[in-house]
Amino acid sequence: METAIHDTMPLSDRFGRVATDLRVSLTDRCNLRCSYCMPAEGLNWMPTPEVLTDDEVVRLITIAVTRLGVDQIRFTGGEPLIRRGFTDIVARTARLRPRPRIAVTTNGLGLDKVASGLARAGLDRVNVSLDTVRRETFLAITRRDRLDDVLTGLAAAAEAGLTPVKINAVLLRGHNEDQAPELLRWCLSHGYDLRFIEQMPLDAQHGWSRDTMVTAHEIFTSLEREFELTENPEERGSAPAELFLVDGGPATVGVIASVTRPFCGDCDRVRLTADGQIRNCLFAREESDLRQALRSGASDVEIARRWRAAMWTKRPGHGIDDESFLQPVRPMSAIGG
Ligand code: GTP
Ligand code: 5AD
Ligand code: SF4
Repeated sequence: METAIHDTMPLSDRFGRVATDLRVSLTDRCNLRCSYCMPAEGLNWMPTPEVLTDDEVVRLITIAVTRLGVDQIRFTGGEPLIRRGFTDIVARTARLRPRPRIAVTTNGLGLDKVASGLARAGLDRVNVSLDTVRRETFLAITRRDRLDDVLTGLAAAAEAGLTPVKINAVLLRGHNEDQAPELLRWCLSHGYDLRFIEQMPLDAQHGWSRDTMVTAHEIFTSLEREFELTENPEERGSAPAELFLVDGGPATVGVIASVTRPFCGDCDRVRLTADGQIRNCLFAREESDLRQALRSGASDVEIARRWRAAMWTKRPGHGIDDESFLQPVRPMSAIGG
């Protein structure tokens, strides 16, 4: 018999980190085909029976919030907005006590239609992926001519109060590596918080190479030709983004330098995939199957116990620089970033 005290222990690992931020991938499908994430075609989707139902997702989120100390839920994909029950999942998450903070990372397509409903359901804020504000570059990177839809979605999110609206941009050599200042100027003028992300080795087609990745250093150099960047006095905590004041502030620009300035020592994240697997790291090579536990009648106490056990084996870092590094089998589109 487990004692009551065990029933509320948090998600700790053996390096003293505690996961309080749960990233929930709701689908591996997407309506764009960003080249750093998915191949143009030929990627198999998860079979539907393997995907957790809305009730199963909400049950796991409830266990995380009420028994495991999780206080922030971020929905991801693929593209989370294409999941039919999304607004209802958000509403059910917002009714939990203690109420978690709730965010979504989306490509912005269709956000104009759902932003106000999501805000009413309890969504707090959005992060939107946008690598360029040039139509041809957008088409080349995402393989779809949908820039205007993303821009409309962004405006709707701001209007609905899903703020701060953050923008995630990946710079790719030969596409947009020279567009950092232009994108920052555009975000400043619209009141969006821009962050540049170093590309990570997570694409399904294994096209990543350290030699061609645009580094944080290059991004600073490019921005500093047009802007003055200074250190942000605010605490970074466990945030992946390092923030810099732009031209003295208060506006900021972020850099998420997962590869050249890793932040794994402060990681507070755990991931749940759409097919019910716990990943204790973005780069984990092992997963823990909670779907099987759910579907074979495990109690909440038992699921929480398995979840804690999955976290205990979290490695100290992603190990991209190790000789022995192997990219995870599961691609970015099925992890959610
Ligand atoms: P905020 O809390 O809004 O700042 O969100 P976030 O930056 O944590 O989340 P988002 O989903 O917008 O992710 C932005 C980028 O950071 C993506 O490229 C993610 O893959 C990356 N990212 C998020 N969490 C982690 C992490 O734990 N480790 C690493 N290496 N990258 C991460
Ligand atoms: N490296 C870094 N970021 C990536 N994203 C997608 N693929 C990669 C990658 N290989 C970003 C997307 C999205 C977030 C979830 O992760 O741009 O904003
Ligand atoms: Fe879709 Fe996101 Fe992948 Fe782009 S990066 S294809 S938006 S899942």
